[in-house]
Formats: sequence, C-alpha cells, structure tokens
Amino acid sequence: SGVEQLGNMIAEANCIVPFTGAGISTECGIPDFRSPGGLWTRNRPIPFDEFVASADARAEAWRRRFAMEETFAAARPGRGHRALASLYKAGKTPAIITQNIDNLHQASGFRADDVIELHGNTTYARCIGCGHAYDLPWVKARFEENGSAPDCIRCDEPIKTATISFGQAMPEDEMRRATELAQQCDLFLAIGSSLVVWPAAGFPLMARNCGARLVIINNEPTEQDDVADLVIRHDIGETLGPFVGN
Ligand code: OAD
Ligand code: ZN
Repeated sequence: SGVEQLGNMIAEANCIVPFTGAGISTECGIPDFRSPGGLWTRNRPIPFDEFVASADARAEAWRRRFAMEETFAAARPGRGHRALASLYKAGKTPAIITQNIDNLHQASGFRADDVIELHGNTTYARCIGCGHAYDLPWVKARFEENGSAPDCIRCDEPIKTATISFGQAMPEDEMRRATELAQQCDLFLAIGSSLVVWPAAGFPLMARNCGARLVIINNEPTEQDDVADLVIRHDIGETLGPFVGN
C-alpha cells in the first residue's frame, strides 16, 4: 500500500524535508482555502495593495481574523503534525517548510527556527512600515474602541497580521532557506497542498529536479502528481498516524 511504500522511503532517506499546506490542519478544525467550504470559497482574498490603500479593506481583514480567533486558539496539532515532529525528533528532518500560518508545527515540537514559514504567521501582527510586532489582543482592543484597525504607534503605517497576502513580497530569508532545504534533501514530502500558489509550489519541483524523491499526500489530485515518485490520495491523519512516535 501507499503507507507501506512511504515507510520504506522514510527508512531509506537521510534528509527528509516536509512541505505542508492547509490540508494538514483541517483535522484540527482550521478550514483550508480551496476545498468545498474552504476560506476562498466563502471570501475573496484581500490583496496586499488593497489592504494598504483602503481603511475599509483593513477593517474587513481584521474582522475576518477576529472571527477566526476561537478556531486558531483552540487548534492543537493533529496526527500529521505529530508524525512530522517525530521525524524531526528522530533527526531525520532538519527543518520544515510550510505555507501554513497557524503555528501548529511549532506547537507539535519543532523549534521556531526550524519552521520555514513562507506565508508568515497569523498568531501575531506587524506594522507593514517598520515591522514592529504587536500582539492580537492589543490590536483587538483598539479595533473595538475605534471601529477601525489601529496604525503603528511608531511610524503610523497600517498594522497587519504577520502573514503574506497576495501581491505582498515573499520573505527573503525564508525563500533562501527553503531553497537550500529543497536542494539538500533526499526525500521531499508535499502534504495537504493544492500546489497552485507560487512561488511556494515551486519547491516540490525544485527538490525533484535536484534528485530528491517526491511524495505527494493529498486527498485531491494536484498538478504535480505526474512527476511524483509516490502519490497517496488519502486522508493525511490516517496516512501519517502510523508514523506518530512516542
Ligand atoms: P488549499 O486549500 O489550496 O489546498 C489544501 C489541499 O488539502 C486541498 O487539495 C484539499 O483537498 C487537501 N486536504 C484538505 N484536508 C485534507 C485531509 N484531511 N487529508 C488530505 N488532504 C486534505 O491550501 P494550500 O495549498 O495550503 O496563501 O494553499 C496555498 C496558499 O493559498 C495558502 O498558503 C494561502 C492561500 O491563498 C496565501 O494566502 C498567500
Ligand atoms: Zn511602524
């Protein structure tokens, strides 16, 4: 079966780099983007230039974030997160590349430095001008007081969750480290991503082109299935559950 083949590939590998998308967190109660019921089937994304230009867009972005507060606060690592943390603890996985913003890889036991967040993190906020960090309760208190999103106390520019929106520059250091990992690994695991958002979706192909074996675990087909060495079109928690260690 796919799980048995995956087990063999993991046993044979020396350097395994996981690359995750929203599908690994759906069993934790966090919706993905493009499945039925996914966030982008309910709401249009707010592009970065719109967030910068429009106070209404900023208010809408923050309303959406606060509406998700309970969901993110209650989420705990699932079987997928825990299986990857087991590979990390076993020394097989130096670091993980993720498109996710939910902090669950850190919560499962990865050191923050070893989680390469390509699309940032939604559990705190930053000024888009000077980068000063803010915690969400601070932003929420001011939002509720004024009915609008607060600006930076240092430079007066807008404050945004520390995530990357469409049209926003990718984080340079993370792109560089993800590139190195994709080039160095001998097994690359693309888990729970539709692989349609670039440049993130370039990393599985990059790893494959640099000689790594590529495994795709996703319950729907992806555009890269035909170049993968193994495709497991099945539930992530069920597939990775057997790899959760003690
Ligand atoms: P998507 O929603 O595009 O893809 C998630 C994939 O996971 C889908 O193909 C689902 O079928 C699959 N899936 C969901 N639950 C699963 C489960 N339990 N078992 C197996 N498969 C499951 O999410 P991403 O690929 O992460 O970026 O989206 C990429 C980027 O698009 C996000 O980082 C975000 C979004 O716009 C930005 O906003 C910049
Ligand atoms: Zn600032």
